[in-house]
Amino acid sequence: MKADAIIEHCDVAVLSGDGAGEIRDALVALADGRIAWVGPRTDAPRFTSSDGGGAPPAYDAAGGWLTPGLVDCHTHLVHAGDRAHEFELRLQGASYEDVARAGGGIMSTVRATRAADEDTLARSAARRLARLLAEGVTTVEVKSGYGLDADTELRMLRVARRLEATHPVRVVTTLLAAHALPPEYAGRADDYIAAVSDEWVPRAARAGLADAVDAFCEGIAFTPAQCARVLDAARAVGLPVKLHADQLSDLGGATLAASRGALSADHLEWTSEAGVAAMAERGTVAVLLPGAFYFLRETRLPPLDALRRHRVPIALATDCNPGSSPLTSPLLAMNMACTLFRMTPAEALAGFTAHAARALGLHREIGSIEVGKRGDLALWAVRRPAELAYAMGAAPLVRRWFGGQAR
Ligand code: NIG
Ligand code: FE
Repeated sequence: MKADAIIEHCDVAVLSGDGAGEIRDALVALADGRIAWVGPRTDAPRFTSSDGGGAPPAYDAAGGWLTPGLVDCHTHLVHAGDRAHEFELRLQGASYEDVARAGGGIMSTVRATRAADEDTLARSAARRLARLLAEGVTTVEVKSGYGLDADTELRMLRVARRLEATHPVRVVTTLLAAHALPPEYAGRADDYIAAVSDEWVPRAARAGLADAVDAFCEGIAFTPAQCARVLDAARAVGLPVKLHADQLSDLGGATLAASRGALSADHLEWTSEAGVAAMAERGTVAVLLPGAFYFLRETRLPPLDALRRHRVPIALATDCNPGSSPLTSPLLAMNMACTLFRMTPAEALAGFTAHAARALGLHREIGSIEVGKRGDLALWAVRRPAELAYAMGAAPLVRRWFGGQAR
């Protein structure tokens, strides 16, 4: 069998569709950027190098664990400025909503982002991206939503796309123009939603800059009817949709997302059982964001039991953003999901691999170690996969493969 490279002396966490699956003393062969063979080393066929005779180069994984490359399926990685001062205000008693209503919050990041040119945005996003890559991320979703005017929204998406050219990572972009109401539209939320739906969504689609469309359904953001209009506009131009749903209150966001066949509904602290059932029915993935829950000191837990009972795939993400989750550590997010949400370490790993891939509609390409999938892999110096969620600040990544190349 032909192969470009072989990884041996590792244990493999497969993360296939039907759940976990582990292969001890495994061998993985890579060819043409994809996984060509995976199984117990003792069952492996003889490999010959793709570029002629001889054996392909073999990498000795020294007994580490190999997982799919991590997938961070919900981030606001591209933005300018920080919100450390707002953090201080919240610690003195102001709520996230208080700060937003006083003109801070998302709007303060919007002011900084509008003032930043593409290179400035790209440099700060690259710093955050480097931290994700250092923890094994091979695919990252990046949202707009801090421009709130057509030009800045598209600039954010261009910057996100550029990261793919400068870093070994797959970037999936999401237009989140319906994130907050910009001051130019004060008192005219429906007019803003009309501009986003009728002009900006088609424009982003035509420019090939958005892979999906998102909206923020919340008291401090947009109503279910306004979000529905944005999602319908996206579907009309053939873009998949997702929703920031039920984070601070239950506006029926999960049900709305499911009704539009959304890839995912995200946050979900206040989602009702009916919302969970609707998601199960339509195959909408639950994306839980423990970093935001932690950082906003939320107390209302997402409906884990209902999600499990209804067999809704549960993904996790960093939600990396300056206001509610200044987090660039997927491993810490896994730890938080276990300690705060009582997820198991196995659920947390599936949440950052197989289920996160599904949340991006990429589950046929990435998220598990199976023949034919992309060669996006992470090798960890751990004795068992649960250690990934267990240790805080441990930096266990040994090596990362992107598209079959170690880099
Ligand atoms: O995913 N929930 C809405 N949007 C972001 C926070 C944005 C901000 O505060 O800057 C989130 O948590
Ligand atoms: Fe978010």
